[in-house]
Amino acid sequence: MPDDQMIDARTTPPAVWSVLENLKGDTLTSWRMADVPGRRTAEQRNLTEDFPFGWYAVCYSDELPAGTLKTVHYLSREMVVWRGEDGTARVLDAYCRHLGAHMGHGGRVSGNNLECPFHAWEYDGTGAVVRIPYARSIPPQAKRADCVKGWPVVERNGFVWIWYHPAGKAPLWEVETFLEVGSPGWTDYKKSEWRVFNSIRNMHDNGVDLAHFLYIHRTAELPQSEVTIDGQRMTTISRAKLGTPRGLVDGAIVSDNISPGHSSVRFQGISETLLVGAITPIEKDELHVRFAFTQPKQEAEGPMGGLARALIRDICKQLDQDKVVWDHQYYEKEPLLCDSDGPVPLARLRYDQFMSDEAYQAAKGKVRKFETRPKA
Ligand code: FES
Ligand SMILES: [Fe+2]
Repeated sequence: MPDDQMIDARTTPPAVWSVLENLKGDTLTSWRMADVPGRRTAEQRNLTEDFPFGWYAVCYSDELPAGTLKTVHYLSREMVVWRGEDGTARVLDAYCRHLGAHMGHGGRVSGNNLECPFHAWEYDGTGAVVRIPYARSIPPQAKRADCVKGWPVVERNGFVWIWYHPAGKAPLWEVETFLEVGSPGWTDYKKSEWRVFNSIRNMHDNGVDLAHFLYIHRTAELPQSEVTIDGQRMTTISRAKLGTPRGLVDGAIVSDNISPGHSSVRFQGISETLLVGAITPIEKDELHVRFAFTQPKQEAEGPMGGLARALIRDICKQLDQDKVVWDHQYYEKEPLLCDSDGPVPLARLRYDQFMSDEAYQAAKGKVRKFETRPKA
C-alpha cells in the first residue's frame, strides 16, 4: 500500500464516529461503565451459554484493605469478598444460609471470618459456620465447608481471583505471575474499566479477528499475525505499522490468552507496555473488563512519557471502538468467513476447552499454529 493511502491509527473510524466523537474525560469514563439503553436480551442475541471455567478477577488487591469487605456481583450471583486480619482475601456467596441475609450489606469482618449482620453467625473462607454467639452448638450441616458456597481464591499480579467451574471442580491450573507487576523498575498500574454487554465468547473471537483492525481500529494494514494454540494457551503475535505523531512505526503485540478471563498483552515498538487484561462475566450478556497497564519507569516517567501515555490511551480507545459493536452483537454460531479472516474456527475450538473437562484434557500438549500475511 503506498504511504499516502495508509490510514493514520489516530483517525476516528467512521463506523463508531458518531458514538465516540464527543466522549472525553469523565463523560468517556462514565460511558464506559453505563448501561446501554434499548439493548436486546441475552436470549435474543444468542448469548445464553454457561461461563467458561477458569480464574476471574473480582477486585484489585488495593481495593481491599485488611478488615474490610466488598460486595460484588459476578457470574450471575452476589458474592462478598473480604480480607481478614491475617491479610488473606476470601470470597463467599453473599446470602446467609440461616435466614438469607445479604452479608455484604451490614456484615463485617470479625478476625478472619465474615460475620452476618442479622444474627452474627460467622463463616470462615470455606463457607463453614464457625461461630453462633447465641447458640449452645452449631448445627452439623452448618459446620461443613460450602454451607455457603466458598470460592477458591488467589491473589496475584495485584488482583484477587476466584476459580469458577460449573461442576465445582478444583482449580485446573495456577494463576501465573508476571514479573513486571510490582517490580521497582515498573510503574504502578494505570487502570481502565468497561462494562461490555456481550458474552465472553464473542470477545474471545475478537482476538483473532484480524480484519476488524482495518475497519474498527484503522490500523494501517491487515496485521501480520501468528497464532499459536498450545494446550490451553493462545498466543498471538501481531505485527503492524502503527500511525503515531512521529509517523509510521513497526509495532509488535504479543498477546497471551491464558484463559478467556485472563490475559497479558505486551506491546513493543512504540513504548514497552504490559497490559494485564481481566474479563469477568457479570451476567451471560454482560462483562466487567479491566485493563491494568504497567510500563518501565524509565520510559513512562522520562522524556518519552508522553508517548507512553498516548499508547495506553490508544489501546483503551481500541476497546471503546470494539465496545460500540460488541454491545449489540449477536452470537453467530456458524459465521460466514472469508479467506483473509483470522482463525476464528480455531479460536472457537480453543474456547471450547474451557467448556468441557474432556476437551480441556484432550488439548493438553497439542500445538496448533496459524499464520496470516497481508494481501500482496
Ligand atoms: S441470616 Fe445470617 S445469621 Fe441469621
Ligand atoms: Fe478489537
